Amino acid sequence: MKLVKISMLALVLGMMMTSCKEEEEMVATPTLYERLGGVNAISAVVDEFIGRVAANPDMKRTFQPLLTEVGEKGAASPKLIALRQNLIDQIGEASGGPQKYMGKDMVTAHKGMNITEVEFNSLAGNLSGALDKFSVPATEKNELLTVIGSLKPSIVGK
Ligand code: HEM
Repeated sequence: MKLVKISMLALVLGMMMTSCKEEEEMVATPTLYERLGGVNAISAVVDEFIGRVAANPDMKRTFQPLLTEVGEKGAASPKLIALRQNLIDQIGEASGGPQKYMGKDMVTAHKGMNITEVEFNSLAGNLSGALDKFSVPATEKNELLTVIGSLKPSIVGK
């Protein structure tokens, strides 16, 4: 009888431990994508970022052709709209979201532009400013800037 009680107790304890473990697994750390606030928050940051890049004199050399191109009835050009979508997808995917970036790889996209380190850092500054505008906390901001910063060797000097 005593043995039955002990083994029952062991069984119940075992079940409790398993369910604790399952709960721990279920409350996994949210992805950077989730912490940033998902696609709507990322889209808002990208729009602010594009506005800052367009107003940044360091970006004139490379972005002028794209920015002076206007779409139908004065709307943004299809190229700029495509770039915006590519940036949203790229940031979404890189931060763990469901998006799939379908644009060119970074070397191909920037080939022949001879982008300098100064230009790269200036653009990263625009992204940093856009993240600040939406009060993105330091942890998430640094994580995203690190991901973007890792693209530097594929973009500068190509
Ligand atoms: C981390 C930094 C950067 C990221 C993540 C990035 C991302 C992108 C993406 C996704 C595209 C579109 C690719 C496609 O058309 O398939 C693109 C194109 C382009 N990027 Fe960058 N880029 C970065 C840095 C820079 C810098 C520093 C410059 C200039 C100083 C620059 C200038 C351009 C230009 C001019 C285009 C072509 C736009 C067009 O004519 O369609 N990029 N970039």
